[in-house]
Amino acid sequence: MSHLPLRVIGGVALVVAIALPASAQVSFATTGAPAEVTYAKDVAPIIQNNCMVCHRPGGIGPMDLVSYEDARRYARRIGEQVANRLMPPYYYDNDIGIQELQHDWRLSEQEIATVVAWVDQGAPLGNPADMPPPPDLIDTDEWAFVREYGQPDAIIRSTPIDVPLGGQDMMHWPIVPSGLTEDRCIKAIQVKPAGDAKSVVHHANSTFRLENDNGDLERVGAQGEHATEYAMGKLGEIVPDGVCRLLPANAYVAWDIHLFPGGIGTNLQTDVLEDNVVEMGLWLHPRDYQYRYRQDLRLYGIRQGELVLKPHGTAMTQGFLTFDHPVRIDSFQPHGHLRLRSASMEILYPETGRIEIISMISNWSALWHQSHIYDEQVAPLVPTGGVIIMKQWYDNSANNPNVVDPDLWAEYGNRTSDEMSHAWLAVTHLDEEGYQQLLEERQASQERRVTQ
Ligand code: HEC
Repeated sequence: MSHLPLRVIGGVALVVAIALPASAQVSFATTGAPAEVTYAKDVAPIIQNNCMVCHRPGGIGPMDLVSYEDARRYARRIGEQVANRLMPPYYYDNDIGIQELQHDWRLSEQEIATVVAWVDQGAPLGNPADMPPPPDLIDTDEWAFVREYGQPDAIIRSTPIDVPLGGQDMMHWPIVPSGLTEDRCIKAIQVKPAGDAKSVVHHANSTFRLENDNGDLERVGAQGEHATEYAMGKLGEIVPDGVCRLLPANAYVAWDIHLFPGGIGTNLQTDVLEDNVVEMGLWLHPRDYQYRYRQDLRLYGIRQGELVLKPHGTAMTQGFLTFDHPVRIDSFQPHGHLRLRSASMEILYPETGRIEIISMISNWSALWHQSHIYDEQVAPLVPTGGVIIMKQWYDNSANNPNVVDPDLWAEYGNRTSDEMSHAWLAVTHLDEEGYQQLLEERQASQERRVTQ
């Protein structure tokens, strides 16, 4: 093919216009996909690294994307899903707020352009010799952090429950002892349904409880400290180094498990799925672990008063959160159900009155609950008295494809057909000295970057 002068500036390929006979003109995607795209050379690595973890036998995806034949068969749908940023399922705006996130599944502009160009060019295989070797993925039932940290130090299981194939949503609230008799700091935590239970578990929250003098089980922490939250697609959480998320001695885990009869995303063929168990894997720091600050994960409300959605109506909720000490926000996970469309977090700095947008999710989806974990160097620092502003936008009209019947009212509640408005934040509680120190460290590393 003819070579057009092509320069890449800031990641955007510019095609310098020159006069060519019409037959020699080549159309380029604007974002730098190679002109001739083959599965073997260009697309297979993207699918292997970003899709196969779910789209393979035993994975949660509805079909396999393992071979060239698979990809070719679904090429059109792959192109649509990728071009619209629906797959991989990680919904987070890429043009505003903090972009450096851990376990970020988003494809780059160039990867998207490559996949789209491949579909447009008829999904060719290319030279089979270019094909990368199959990826070395961990087993679908394995713990997400097994490569980093090995098997969990402790596994806490819910009691089992049977789920019929048809019927209403189900709730399951067992309380089980942790079995750990000493205070320990959590390094990483993952909750996952065991085996086939992943097809029916919609989400699973867990709080730690302690027995009080009367023998009752009380929540740990004033508002109830949470262990973690599982929802489909979520990997788990890693606690930053140097802080402690406490698992108190002799604690109980109170589960709040929401099950979806019928399942989503798998091809189960049975009337009742028996003995569904959710497991919590805990990786713990050594007993003599030194730390300076406590971190906790809590659920913060984003509304004043009622949450009511009229038929065909929309609603917006806001929540304001402020601390009497400086904090660092380590992760952000908005929560709602089928009518929640968008969510954001902002910080108002008290000294300047400036408001900064930290995170924006314009196309939130109830199928996918990600905890957006900020890279440690950019995790937002909030001074004493700073205000964390969280907003959520709801749509109960026919414009929202998730709304089953827009003639119905919706209000706050636990069922999938009800609505919710809150967010999960993992917060490290700093003091003034630690806050200043973190600010200075970040400034210094910024200056290093500028002078290099
Ligand atoms: C975290 C797991 C996960 C990852 C990663 C993932 N998918 Fe999916 N995918 C799913 C699930 C579950 C569904 C079905 C539910 C849905 O559509 O959201 C799905 C649906 C799809 C569909 C729609 C199928 C249909 O019925 O039309 C396509 C196409 C697709 N994925 C392609 C991809 C591609 C391409 C990638 C990588 C670039 C990818 N997926 C990454 C889990 C995943």
